[in-house]
Amino acid sequence: MTETWIDRPTADIVADLTPEEKASMTSGLNFWFTEPVERAGIPSIMLTDGPHGVRKQTGGGDHLGLGDAVPATCFPPAVALGGTFDPELLERVGVALGTEARAEQVGVLLGPGINIKRTPLCGRNFEYLSEDPVLSGALGAALVRGLQSQGVGASLKHYAANNQETDRMRVSADVDPRPLREIYLRGFQRVVEEAQPWTVMCSYNRINGVYASENRWLLTEVLRDEWGFDGVVVSDWGAVADRVAALTAGLDLEMPSTGGRTDAEIVAAVRAGTLDESVLDTAAGRVVELVRKAVTGAQPDATYDADAHHALAREAAAASVVLLRNEGGVLPLSADTNVAVIGELARTPRYQGAGSSRINPTRLDNALDEIRTLAATDVPFAPGYGSDGSASPDLTAEATAVASAADTVLLFLGVPAELESEGFDRDDLELPASQVELLDAVVRANPDTVVVLSNGGVVRLSGFANRVPAIVEGWLLGQAGGGGLADVLYGVVNPSARLAETIPLRIEDTAAHGNFPGEHGRVRYGEGLHVGYRWYDARQLDVSYPFGFGLSYTTFEYSDATVFGDDGMTVTVTVTNTGDRAGAEVVQVYVGLPGSAVARAPRELKGFAKVHLAAGESREVRIPVRRADLGYWDTRIDAWVVEGGTYTVEIGASSRDIRATSTVEVTGDEVRIPLSLDSSIGEVLADPVAAGLVMEAFASLTGDGEAPALDPSVLKMAASMPLSRMVGFLGDSFDREKLRQLIDAANADS
Ligand code: BGC
Repeated sequence: MTETWIDRPTADIVADLTPEEKASMTSGLNFWFTEPVERAGIPSIMLTDGPHGVRKQTGGGDHLGLGDAVPATCFPPAVALGGTFDPELLERVGVALGTEARAEQVGVLLGPGINIKRTPLCGRNFEYLSEDPVLSGALGAALVRGLQSQGVGASLKHYAANNQETDRMRVSADVDPRPLREIYLRGFQRVVEEAQPWTVMCSYNRINGVYASENRWLLTEVLRDEWGFDGVVVSDWGAVADRVAALTAGLDLEMPSTGGRTDAEIVAAVRAGTLDESVLDTAAGRVVELVRKAVTGAQPDATYDADAHHALAREAAAASVVLLRNEGGVLPLSADTNVAVIGELARTPRYQGAGSSRINPTRLDNALDEIRTLAATDVPFAPGYGSDGSASPDLTAEATAVASAADTVLLFLGVPAELESEGFDRDDLELPASQVELLDAVVRANPDTVVVLSNGGVVRLSGFANRVPAIVEGWLLGQAGGGGLADVLYGVVNPSARLAETIPLRIEDTAAHGNFPGEHGRVRYGEGLHVGYRWYDARQLDVSYPFGFGLSYTTFEYSDATVFGDDGMTVTVTVTNTGDRAGAEVVQVYVGLPGSAVARAPRELKGFAKVHLAAGESREVRIPVRRADLGYWDTRIDAWVVEGGTYTVEIGASSRDIRATSTVEVTGDEVRIPLSLDSSIGEVLADPVAAGLVMEAFASLTGDGEAPALDPSVLKMAASMPLSRMVGFLGDSFDREKLRQLIDAANADS
């Protein structure tokens, strides 16, 4: 048998390629495929969107979601899946996505997207999981694991700090090191370390002035050197401004094709000696490795079971629905409740967002039909508004007539598609005024009105939440969302999702307000670490519904909570289903460190577990908190540091429903900051060795050899004074050089 390229070591393959061939391999053939090198036998592979389905286009390529794509299961987008708090379910969705991608001969599916929801106005929040990095990281890793288990690569995106759509291709996200590490990069780090995605997609924007695609610190020092990423960095589609600079920074694959223009720039730079050929070799080698993985994972005759995937999409949709309000137990409905359905969204669902992630679904449920299937009664329907969101007196009159004749009204409201999309941000958090007017009219006609929402980013509920008995947050739920919603409304499925993002009372309360969307090409992340619930908690602001919140048709009690410190922490708690139907609870562990030496949010999610319990069942839940998640980014030494101290551990059913609180002692990491003449008196005195040496030196000044007795109030005042300045006050009596030597000696001794 003759040896093919796939059996040869990557270095040998690359060594046989010309600079032209290597440059071509590190860019696209067209919109979706990598460039093959036929002479060497290296084939082309397909990378395509993503993330919640396979968008394999049949005609010309575009990244706006315009052209036709083959049918594929449209699973619930990330906004919905984030609320499941269920890595096991997301892994199964990942497996299904991988199976479909493999059946379509797709090598890399472009997802998951795990950017932090910095503001609820981000037009692309429907494609992201949460405002919290630990949740985003844990769920993102599960999706990647599932997908890649099928021999299809993931593309973790958009790396990094792509938290708005306004000016997304140029804007500089100006973020301080701590929030960058602790909020915006933490989830990426977790997914890379835990699940090794085959590719990471760099974002369009700049970070602190430097394009992500040209950011060596981001793409090489952090991603590869610190986190150990060994896959391919691919550009977002069209994110490369300067290909040679990008390649040097660590961007391996430019997509889509530029028709050879930027390949020629690379070859010219190699020839001119301004680009070391080894840089090109490294990138080409990584692409060879990616093609090898994709070819190895491919199965030419693979198929998938579209019915089974639709059923999984329905299960995931139902698991994503958040029950926000249920006064008097109006839900679940019984089959013979005399219901009426109002709202065009019940018949014409909004089930995914617009843009590059738009899937051509294999089929499409709508809630109205699914409700009619589960109801034992006739279910009258009135659209209330047109599919373009328009209202009219006739539509309102028809709706109120239908409402008054029913026992319970299911009123479907939501954000119209044209207000929410990739490519631009929302202007406000409001439902359309016409829908709010319809709501007022319907509630007047029948106060027993359940509001069912369809929206990709959160909407303001504070205007009406207290006027209706129930609110069901239905996000964008994918192609089986109608069935998933009906399952929850009729109690076939007990709702178990929790808010992965806070629903604020007003836009003015949100963390980024005043610092969004920036101006003149820069957006300042002025809220720092305090993103999402961290902000509302730090400011003690009321919210409509807090992070982690969601109701069930049953109730849960927590008992016997314990916390013990190990490498990180382990929390155990017994959860009892005290109601009369099976359900699932999301137990959340929040950690804080009162009196910390650095700024911190009052509480941060550090662990969670979803537990399914039969009626009356009790189970002990064990939640590990990883030591890595306790660290803060110490800007003095550019490293993660776990601060020692007494941590508060709160075990809750939401970030504002804490059921048990405990404390645990954590041994901190040894951090030694070398002293210098710029160190303050306080810092010197805090270091036993340096304090001894310096006090001895001062003692020699007093003549009697006694260390000067320092009055505590003087000490407090002098504590912040740098040594060099203090010595300055002593005039000639103190030898600066000697002090420097003492400090060096103390540094060496510690
Ligand atoms: C989006 C990516 C997407 C790519 C390809 C870009 O505009 O930001 O998320 O994967 O297009 O369609």
